[in-house]
Amino acid sequence: MASINIGIPAEQRAAIAQGLSRLLAETYTLYLTTHNFHWNVTGKMFNTLHTMFMDQYTEMWNAVDPIAERIRALGFHAPGSYAEFAKLSTLPDAPAKPPKAMEMVELLAKGHEALARTAREIFPVVDAADDQPSADVLTQRMDIHEKTAWMLRALLED
Ligand SMILES: [Fe+2]
Repeated sequence: MASINIGIPAEQRAAIAQGLSRLLAETYTLYLTTHNFHWNVTGKMFNTLHTMFMDQYTEMWNAVDPIAERIRALGFHAPGSYAEFAKLSTLPDAPAKPPKAMEMVELLAKGHEALARTAREIFPVVDAADDQPSADVLTQRMDIHEKTAWMLRALLED
């Protein structure tokens, strides 16, 4: 591999790439669960949720690319297989039997909160390395996951 010197020591680049790989795997997992729920949602809220889930999975589908490409810019391979994602992600797969509509909303709210926590956990190592581009990616991910979690939680209230 060609040598890389962007002002971040190799050890820190490796730790950041590892954290971003987990974020990538979990984003992909929540993307797939959300697309699954878009297909399988039923009930009175069908239209609202079918459309809302589409907006959410489209956002996450677009988000995996900048996360993966940041890992590449740090000098590491981006994971991109179900086997690797399963190893890296702490999020559960979508249930085999589609849950009821509001259970879907609750599961997704928890998923977005988990993604916000993952992004936040990685932040200190990124901050310590003066890795502003990774910090930018993480800040954007925290913002969107926290906002989406709020909107999903709002749907669960009477
Ligand atoms: Fe569709």
